[in-house]
Amino acid sequence: MSDKIRSVTHVQNIRYDRDRETLIIIDQTLLPGEERFIETRSPREMYDAIRKLQIRGAPAIGIYAGYCMYALARTIEAPEPETFYRKLEEYGDYLNSSRPTAVNLSWAIRTQLAVARAYLGDSREELLEALYQSAAAIHRDDMDKCARISELGLSLLREGDGVLTHCNAGPLATSRYGTGQGPFFLAAERGMKLRVFSDETRPLLQGARLTSYELYRAGVDVTLICDNMASMVMKNGWVQACMVGCDRVAANGDTANKIGTSGVAILASHYGIPFYVLGPTSTIDRNCPAGGDIKIELRDPEEIKTMWYEKPMALPGVKCFNPAFDVTDHSLIAAIVTEKGICRPPYTQSLAALFEDKA
Ligand code: MRU
Repeated sequence: MSDKIRSVTHVQNIRYDRDRETLIIIDQTLLPGEERFIETRSPREMYDAIRKLQIRGAPAIGIYAGYCMYALARTIEAPEPETFYRKLEEYGDYLNSSRPTAVNLSWAIRTQLAVARAYLGDSREELLEALYQSAAAIHRDDMDKCARISELGLSLLREGDGVLTHCNAGPLATSRYGTGQGPFFLAAERGMKLRVFSDETRPLLQGARLTSYELYRAGVDVTLICDNMASMVMKNGWVQACMVGCDRVAANGDTANKIGTSGVAILASHYGIPFYVLGPTSTIDRNCPAGGDIKIELRDPEEIKTMWYEKPMALPGVKCFNPAFDVTDHSLIAAIVTEKGICRPPYTQSLAALFEDKA
């Protein structure tokens, strides 16, 4: 691993310090200007960290939630196992209400509740240890999955390709490497040249603040563009593939990801460029038949009107519509890359096959 890569991927976005029993994250809202690590302890601080995007990206939110459940379980003083469980469930419901779209959040909370349920008859120490080990396993597992997804994603690219990406689906949004942007880090590690175009990703600028920061520091050839420049860059013949992450994939392949993703997919289809979605199988929601069933988070209008400006850019009374995600129709997706393999259309079959018991 080159030094440049190490300097990026070792920025540990989430860390649980067991000596101090403290959950530490890098505050992503301050990047790229400041690398500040913060400690979150109370349920409210944890809820706010997710809601305010101090920790963000579907897999990273899931990893964080796993540790949160352990940390919160430690604070519960309840002699009765059922009372303990109900309190933990309450904390889980509260954290889960922070952001509705990324399925990894509810998945990690459910996983931890199942562990708590399984160890409810054991001693408090054993139960807490099981919760910690489960959180650490979710974390480790994501690292393995990201490495595999990045490897498979890279197999879809050739030396010298131009690749357009949207939002941030790199190490900050996951554990290491990333999903939608993982192949770019792997390529850099191997000396394979790619030209990456990063959409700035209005309104919260994850592409500018996080993706171009991560890729630039890794030595990847990255060019930042405004979202409305994607069509021109594609028309110029500079893009051979699009790669993005995902927040929830429905059973039919419809994919929720950062607002603007579906527009990129429509443009890619117009120009005959393959559009790839990359994510772990934990992002596939088999209980959600199609994209219309995915709940889309609506956020504060001030993110559009005032957040990045010295003066407001619209009159206070002007109405805003600020959805955080949109759904890309499965017909626009050339492949969905998971740690278990590359799925091609028809997705209802290929995604279901990922969960078949091969034994
Ligand atoms: O609102 P955000 O910044 O959490 O949105 C993140 C995205 O849309 C990512 O593309 C997605 O979570 C995949 S991260 C590997």
